[in-house]
Formats: sequence, structure tokens, C-alpha cells
Amino acid sequence: MLVVGPNGVGKTNLLEAIHVATQGFSPRTRTDSQVIRFGAEGARAAVSGRRGEVRMELEVTVRRGEGKRARLNGASLRAAEQLRSMVSTLVFTPDRLGVVKGPPAARRAYFDRVLGRLAPARAALPTEYGAAVAQRNAALRRAAGGHSGREAIEPWSERVAALGAELVAARLDVLAQLEPACTDRAAELGLDGVTLRYEGEPPTPEALAAALERDLERGATSLGPHLDDVVLAAGGRDLRSFGSQGEQRLALLALLLAEAETIDDRTGVPPLLLLDDVLSELDPERRRILAARVRSAGQALVTATDPSLLPAVPDQLLEVTPGTVLEAAA
Ligand SMILES: Nc1ncnc2c1ncn2[C@@H]1O[C@H](COP(=O)(O)OP(=O)(O)OP(=O)(O)O)[C@@H](O)[C@H]1O
Ligand SMILES: [Mg+2]
Repeated sequence: MLVVGPNGVGKTNLLEAIHVATQGFSPRTRTDSQVIRFGAEGARAAVSGRRGEVRMELEVTVRRGEGKRARLNGASLRAAEQLRSMVSTLVFTPDRLGVVKGPPAARRAYFDRVLGRLAPARAALPTEYGAAVAQRNAALRRAAGGHSGREAIEPWSERVAALGAELVAARLDVLAQLEPACTDRAAELGLDGVTLRYEGEPPTPEALAAALERDLERGATSLGPHLDDVVLAAGGRDLRSFGSQGEQRLALLALLLAEAETIDDRTGVPPLLLLDDVLSELDPERRRILAARVRSAGQALVTATDPSLLPAVPDQLLEVTPGTVLEAAA
């Protein structure tokens, strides 16, 4: 589906609304009140669709000062974020290039979200590990300040080691699942030899014990997956530092397409793809390849300022003007 309109008419707003309705949060901001129209009291985003033969109605409402509410087929959900475990929507926006060119924390957050989708049973692992690190850090500071003995750190070190090892193993698993498809999709888009390499070791009890003096001094745990990174490289070159803008964009696209394929393989349901401003920076050949790939990947919405940017006939063409979205003849 191609969504067209001049700059500033609301194409990104439309994609954001679909993301809010299907995932329970905005890809742009974690501050829910920012999705409300200026001057309005609340916002409501609702979508209906089908998964196989099953109809699905999703609705998310946000009211200033009241928080969010989500409903699935009329039934209220405990938290809007629950939608994420029920429906998969993957989004490309230029903001998300941070996954490739941003600091390690951006990649950790991305891959941990993928982990949650691909292995729902392990979805809480990153949070549980983060909580264990926070507890160990608090114990380190208490011991350093003389408010408790060092032995009080021990149980938290054990927990950091156990959950840390589990988290590293889970992340390696995610990378192993994504890498082959990511390499293929990237090569198809003209970026050869893409690899995903995990940088970090599981934090063993021995390594944590060896780091104790340093950790006491800093009041923080100096090793473990909360500090690890994933190196995205092409032909051995780290794309974070050495990739061109276009290469970074292709790598992110390849990653999202690989994620979509993996989700489809695992669950039998392809995710909804929202690709915002993806075409403008790609050369015509790459746009053609992307259009063909996206067509076979389930349902996708692609935005562009001009329909001629998509070198394929979309199944549906939507024209956005301020405040309205109309179906146009493709
Ligand atoms: N909370 C809000 N309430 C009202 N208007 C808003 C709000 N947030 C953003 N806008 C406005 O919505 C307009 C449309 O923005 P949007 O980013 O969707 O345009 P676009 O069609 O994606 O443009 P471009 O082609 O430049 O990406 C902008 O002028 C923006 O200032
Ligand atoms: Mg936009």
C-alpha cells in the first residue's frame, strides 16, 4: 500500500497512528500525551483487520492525565503494551537509523525487543537482568559506604551471573536466527557480506568476583550484557563508524525484513510493515528490489511524497491531505 502526499500533510502521522493502534505505543515518543492533537483532550486510534479468517478490532485511547487504554475485540487489556505480544508491527523511520549508527544501548534495546517477539517466554529476561544489576549496584554502594558487609553483594552477583548468562545466550540465539536472512536481504539490496556479531561474554561469578574492587569504587557493575554490543558489519567493516548513509539505511532495512521473515516463520503470521520515507534516499534499482520484496512480505504501508518513487503498482494507493486520507486510483 502506497501512502502519498506532499511534505507535512500527515503521512508519518498516519503510520504513527497505525503503530499506536496495533502496538500500544508510538515509535516516535515514549510520552503518550505527545500523540494527542495539539489542544485536544485525548486521542483514539482504532483499526480493524483480519488474521487468517479471524477478525481483529484493535483500539487504543490516550487521555491527558489518565494514561492509555487498549481493547482487543472489545475486551479491555491490562496494559496497552500487551498488544505487542499479540500483533507484530515493524516500522522503518529515519529515526530508527540509530539502531545502526547509534550507541550500543540503541542496538541492545532493539535486539532485546526482537527477543521478546521471537521468544515470548523470555521476553521479561532483559528487564529481570536489569533489575538484578540495579540491585547489585545498590548493594555495592551500601558496602562501599560501610552500611553493610561485602557478603551482602554475593547473592546479587550470583543472580547477575545467572541471568546475564541466560540473556547472552538468548541474544546469541536471536542473532543466529536473524543473521542468514539479514545477510541475504542486504545482498539483494546490494550490500554484501553483512554480519551480526555479538560483542560480549557471559558474566561468570569468577569474572564478577575479580571485578569487585573496581565495582565497589564505581558503585556500578562493570561487566555483563547491559554493556555488550552487536556489531553490524559489511565485508568486515563496522557500519556504525564506516557505513555510508545509504549503507546504514540498507542495513536497517535488511534487519527489519529479516525480522519480518523470522516472525513469519515462527508464528505463521507475517508482521505489518510500516516503511516511512524509505524510498527517497534509495537509487531506482534498489527501490525496485525493495518494492518486490515488500510485496511478498505480507501487508506493508510505504510512504512517499510522490507515487513515481515506487517503481511498482501498489495494491492500494492512499492520498493524504491535511486531516483526510482518500483512496486513489493506483
Ligand atoms: N500532536 C500534534 N497535533 C497536531 N499536529 C501535529 C502534532 N504533531 C505533529 N503535528 C503536525 O502534523 C503535520 C504533519 O506531519 P507529518 O510528519 O505526518 O507529515 P508528513 O506527511 O509525514 O511529511 P513529510 O513528507 O515531510 O515527512 C506537521 O505539520 C506537524 O507539525
Ligand atoms: Mg513524514
